Amino acid sequence: MKDELFANYKTLESDRLSLRPITLDDTSDLFEIYSNKEVMLYFDDREAFKDISEAEKMAKDYVEALKNKWSMRWGIVLKETGKLIGTCGFHAISDYDKRIEIGYDLNRDYWGNKVMKEALSMIISFAFENSDVNRIEAFVEPPNTASHMLLERLGFVMEGTLRKHEMCRGELIDIEILSLLRE
Ligand SMILES: CC(C)(COP(=O)(O)OP(=O)(O)OC[C@H]1O[C@@H](n2cnc3c(N)ncnc32)[C@H](O)[C@@H]1OP(=O)(O)O)[C@@H](O)C(=O)NCCC(=O)NCCS
Repeated sequence: MKDELFANYKTLESDRLSLRPITLDDTSDLFEIYSNKEVMLYFDDREAFKDISEAEKMAKDYVEALKNKWSMRWGIVLKETGKLIGTCGFHAISDYDKRIEIGYDLNRDYWGNKVMKEALSMIISFAFENSDVNRIEAFVEPPNTASHMLLERLGFVMEGTLRKHEMCRGELIDIEILSLLRE
């Protein structure tokens, strides 16, 4: 599964979006995304970026992770302007279990236009068509309604709540787990 996924990784296109590998040239667009407090509210235990060097490190991490087959991320580019407005991809790739985790984030200025629904549809189709992955899972903080609704619209099923699962902002918080199966 994992080898097929990485061997077939490529730019994905729709009329409106181009999903392409992230490069160091994307640093300033990434900074715009990750320096926004609303975008970062439910982003693991990280605070909004304050310095461009944090975005540069993020870009480097995405490049390295793809090269080393740790995880795959696409930059979501609005074709009309050429601007990178978000990222999405797969990590926690469990080859033996044919299971991957999905992740995504969108520049605050572009929320509510079905950009992420379109982007995730593309990468989910990519994963199922180009590998024998069986399960795509997602972990969401309960107050993150936008993320939960987005996943449900894409066919993900809520499986339950992992109680006190993660240390976040100084306290242990619950996390919802959702998944989409090949079948
Ligand atoms: C989650 C996020 C990517 C959604 O992106 P988006 O492009 O605005 O979402 P979409 O416009 O594609 O919405 C998809 C569906 O979710 C629903 N949705 C989106 N935001 C919603 C909200 N705030 N409340 C309720 N439903 C919402 C939409 O109604 C839409 O359903 P529809 O097709 O039936 O209308 C964006 O809010 C974001 O970047 N959040 C911060 C990062 C983050 O939380 N990442 C995930 C961590 S688990």
